Amino acid sequence: MRKPYVAGNWKMNLNRAEATALASAIVKAADHKDIDVGMAPPFVYLDAVAAAAKGSGVHVAAQNCYFEAKGAFTGEVSPQMVLDVGCDTVILGHSERRHVLGETDQMINQKVKASLAAGLKVILCLGETLDEREGGRTNAVCERHVREGLKGVTAAQMASVVLAYEPVWAIGTGKTASPEQAQEVHAFVRPLVSALLGKPVADAVRIQYGGSVKADNTFELMSQPDIDGALVGGAALKADSFLTIVQETRKAKGLA
Ligand code: 13P
Repeated sequence: MRKPYVAGNWKMNLNRAEATALASAIVKAADHKDIDVGMAPPFVYLDAVAAAAKGSGVHVAAQNCYFEAKGAFTGEVSPQMVLDVGCDTVILGHSERRHVLGETDQMINQKVKASLAAGLKVILCLGETLDEREGGRTNAVCERHVREGLKGVTAAQMASVVLAYEPVWAIGTGKTASPEQAQEVHAFVRPLVSALLGKPVADAVRIQYGGSVKADNTFELMSQPDIDGALVGGAALKADSFLTIVQETRKAKGLA
């Protein structure tokens, strides 16, 4: 069985005291022996959150990074810096990076390769907009995100990659994909990974679902066979709701 993985993407929220308190509460209470738990604070709080998580096994992720190791790239942060500050993971290709900040598949692919080469684990996000879904292009868009995002990534490196299906229309809208809608896309992505990198890789890769995951819809979503965890936004900003999502995932996967 794939080890489920629940990560909180805090986006551009919280201050230093709140981020540290949330991280400490999660590290203290999260039951993560049979499940991966991660938290992705804003860059400026990575240090504090990594200190709170040190030695706990809870993953700490940056929400983005650049693809160069160093140099004249004002405002950017390299994979090496993300590692140096105590993170083990980076989220790449989030829809807000794609649609608000204009990142292209090619840029995201460069970031994926540079991050893996530096020794980071990667959560690579994919997902269609409402327009794309209504235009019948969901599979084509998700296929492009996976194909382009993983270009040049080896089967061995895939042990450090998690995919996250996040339909853009479900992010921050309270409108979650139904378990069936999410499962349908996950079940489309897995064979695609198989075609690109082989069946053992496809069988092993975790595919998280993200988009209005809440404590009360987690069980149903996580009960789907190809949904291996969650990437949680708003509901990850409070320890109680995030910890309930972790517990509901464990229950849905028969671990509690
Ligand atoms: P919400 O859970 O707030 O919809 O955000 C999902 C997300 O974008 C996680 O990366």
